[in-house]
Amino acid sequence: MKIITEIKNHLHKKTKALCHFIYEDEIPDWVNEIHGRVGNTIKQTISNTEWKEGEIRIIETHGLITAERIILIGLGLRKNSNAEIIRNSTGKISREIQKMKLPEYTISLPKNVQAEFVVSIVEGAELSMYNFDKYKSNTKKIPELCILIHNNEINKTVMKTQKVNMGVMFARDIANLPPNDCYPSTMAKFAKSITNNKLKCRIISKECLEREKFNGITSVGMGSKNEPKLIVLEYNLKKNVKPIIIIGKAVTFDTGEISLKPSEKLEEMKFDKCGGCVVLGIMKAVSELKLSTSIVGIIPSVENMPGGNSYRPGDIIKMYNEKMVEIINTDAEGRLILSDAISYGEKKYSPKTIIDFATLTGACITALGTNVAGFITNNDDLAIKFSESSKRCNEEIWQLPLNNDYMDMIKSEIADIKNIGPKGAAGTITAAAFLAHSINKNTPWIHVDIAGTSWIQPSTKYRSYNSNGATGFGVRLTIDYLTNN
Ligand code: BES
Ligand code: ZN
Ligand code: ZN
Repeated sequence: MKIITEIKNHLHKKTKALCHFIYEDEIPDWVNEIHGRVGNTIKQTISNTEWKEGEIRIIETHGLITAERIILIGLGLRKNSNAEIIRNSTGKISREIQKMKLPEYTISLPKNVQAEFVVSIVEGAELSMYNFDKYKSNTKKIPELCILIHNNEINKTVMKTQKVNMGVMFARDIANLPPNDCYPSTMAKFAKSITNNKLKCRIISKECLEREKFNGITSVGMGSKNEPKLIVLEYNLKKNVKPIIIIGKAVTFDTGEISLKPSEKLEEMKFDKCGGCVVLGIMKAVSELKLSTSIVGIIPSVENMPGGNSYRPGDIIKMYNEKMVEIINTDAEGRLILSDAISYGEKKYSPKTIIDFATLTGACITALGTNVAGFITNNDDLAIKFSESSKRCNEEIWQLPLNNDYMDMIKSEIADIKNIGPKGAAGTITAAAFLAHSINKNTPWIHVDIAGTSWIQPSTKYRSYNSNGATGFGVRLTIDYLTNN
């Protein structure tokens, strides 16, 4: 989306639509600057409207000022106002402009706004206009936005936010791809497409994975003719600096394999690659933003398909970290590929922190629904920092506990551990317990289960800046964490 800024009096701006925000309990100071018929209509509209959050009024100006129409949107009471209200309202205005088929619109900033306000406007405008239309014959036009600013400092904020948005939309674009157009090799191709002199990519092939005994990944990948890949992206890696590792599950399609899933909503299992897509989005944003941190992205990618070669319930697998795992259910595949990726990342990079994103368990939806992701960590500081980032960007997360009792729930009678815990008992936590078994050196680690929040599901709360399909949940959260810590 093209977004420009201009320092100009709003009454002199030539535009199809001049948009203003209004708080419920305030009359904007600019109202008295507009005289005549338009001024009276605006005054009347303002006093006749409550300006609850999201309330929109459109006033035609009939050539009396340079803007063809004024669009007003309510923000509710100023004391209750927050970034999410601005983001959502801006998305609502942008959708309205698109419905009216206007080629451009202008948003006038209130005086003395904080950078946070501008971030929300840019997020709301650009993310609401995202639409996955690669397979549509008719596509919707995206209007251009001009933000009227008071000083040039704000330009930097606009540019930075657009880079993060690009990461979110990159993640959404890949996640939305159908499973016949996105295999592990496609994920690898997308990873290569974002490389530059600071961002390097390595793809570990099936042969190499077999040779190096990544048996968690190769076992899950065996049932599909589309070979597994382990994708490694290294950004700004420096000697003697411990990187942060971000890992994402990328199962390009999850049938459940031999423990076959029922067919209802099976098409949604193309979204089982969302963790990997989030990592791609984060790495793209990180390199565009030119962050000074060292960051490694690791994406284990497989297609979980049944076939004559599939792994089976009952198999015992020696993982990359040499632990023996009894397979009880081939549908609990995410933890197997993530475990190998975590052990590899920890061994190779001795990282400062490990963050992982995965659409890991249906149980997470049962526990928290589709608006809040679950997280589990071995480090209190990470819990605090991520919760703070979550509050700032409104990607909601909630902590679940992990202690030795949960670790014991996945002990196997005949191997070290098994790949599922007792049925119906804390499925999200026992999955995390499995991952915790792959952390060897007590590295601070946070696991985010994004099964409920990665795409729009029937119980997902409406947000104007999300459209149908993938949300890119986790990109804004992680970029906030990386830039504030
Ligand atoms: N990808 C699924 C989890 C999932 C299910 C995400 C529905 C989003 C919506 C994962 O691989 C899986 O199948 N998990 C099983 C684990 C079970 C066999 C212990 C599940 O959640 O049912
Ligand atoms: Zn599964
Ligand atoms: Zn899965």
